[in-house]
Amino acid sequence: MSDQAWQQCINPDCAGTFGITEVHSKCPACGNLLDVRYDWNRIEVPKRLSAFEKRWSTRTNPLDLSGVWRFRELIAFAPEDAIVTIGEGQTLLKQSPGVAKYAGLKPDRLFLQYEGLNPSGSFKDNGMTGAFTHGNMVAAKVAACASTGNTSASLALFAAQSQLMRAVVFVGGGKIAFGKLSQALEYGALTLQIDGDFDDAMARIQEVCTEKGIYLVNSLNPFRLEGQKAIMFRILEGLGWEVPDWVICPGGNLGNSSAFGKAFMELVELGLIKRPPRIAVINSTGARTLYRIAEEKKITFNDGHVDDAAVEADYREMDERNDRAHTVASAIEINRPVNLKKCLRAIEVTDGLVREVPDADILDAKAKIGAGGLGCEPASAASVAGLKLLVAEGVVSPDDRVACVLTGHVLKDPNVSVDYHSMALDAFRAKYAEKFDVTKISFPNHPVKVPNDLGEILRTLEGLL
Ligand code: F0G
Repeated sequence: MSDQAWQQCINPDCAGTFGITEVHSKCPACGNLLDVRYDWNRIEVPKRLSAFEKRWSTRTNPLDLSGVWRFRELIAFAPEDAIVTIGEGQTLLKQSPGVAKYAGLKPDRLFLQYEGLNPSGSFKDNGMTGAFTHGNMVAAKVAACASTGNTSASLALFAAQSQLMRAVVFVGGGKIAFGKLSQALEYGALTLQIDGDFDDAMARIQEVCTEKGIYLVNSLNPFRLEGQKAIMFRILEGLGWEVPDWVICPGGNLGNSSAFGKAFMELVELGLIKRPPRIAVINSTGARTLYRIAEEKKITFNDGHVDDAAVEADYREMDERNDRAHTVASAIEINRPVNLKKCLRAIEVTDGLVREVPDADILDAKAKIGAGGLGCEPASAASVAGLKLLVAEGVVSPDDRVACVLTGHVLKDPNVSVDYHSMALDAFRAKYAEKFDVTKISFPNHPVKVPNDLGEILRTLEGLL
């Protein structure tokens, strides 16, 4: 394993390499992010992606059942007996004509990658199987993360199922959607509600992990991102191994977009695809650091030579403005995304771009996605709201084939759904306006109050059906 895979700093001026069983969340030499890298000559990678289909018939092997590890030659850092899988990645790529129409695409051009079907209800399980596998390789006993909720739910679930590590999670006090908090508690994670937001929790967890030698499973962990590459392999699989024109995902801590970019870089390098899709990363206007950096300030990956001083100056200004992230899409309520540089790389290699969408558009898109039969949480719907914006701008053509990643299940954040559908705009604003600005509710499905009386119920139904 050590010959075929290693860890490497993404800063080309450093390019420090580290063994696969070393534990670092940043390059010990220069502090930049680490990648997992492979010597593909030592790995038996299939000549065609369709060769992976043979594993569909051997699903009694848990590694072939896993929607991550059935692509294990493309994620080849672990011996098979070290892999920790809970059956993650049994997801669907579904065509969605109704949502396509809403976004302005031709009916057959939009595909929704439904990551809500994962065991913990979000895409995080794709990455957590990677992190737990590596944690298992290094015999970690305690694993920790800071989280806006889904990473903590996934960590807690993997810890409970595998019984290999104790889970410790740091969440921002009052910042985490109820479905997610309930999972962390139910699965037995030691849950610390930090008096602050995600960015505070993320800073503290890194200090604590360093201090206590605890295994960090946030997406700074390069092994997590290896697992998340599989989301892209499954999109290709769902399209009969054809490459879409666009992949659109929400941007929070930027682990997904980073992993997606790396997946496509490697597939191109291996000759398994000819070109990558363009990746569009969608911020909420209430948590717009990536948009500001990439689109307004035009800071690029620049072949690995990111203008660090410009990024630091931007963060300093953000602090001076006392700009804290505020969005209804609590999963992406993040102002200091730890994977910024890798995301800029993904944008560079895929000719990608970034957009920001307001909370009201996110909630309207979410309602349309739900009405089309694939419920998701607010952050996930940013992808469709972003697509609608890109079609309106003429950047995405109605003929383009687009895959939007629905990152988390509708039940993750039931309060926002119920409030959107049952409250008048004024009442909704009174409840939330201080935190996020929702200026419209376009597609409410109001519950109807009726007396407990058959005649009244029938009369009410007659008027409504
Ligand atoms: N969508 C959902 C549902 C998420 O939970 C997250 C991130 C994102 C999108 C953003 O993905 O960080 O890869 O850019 N949630 C993290 C968490 C931060 O702690 O659960 P990203």
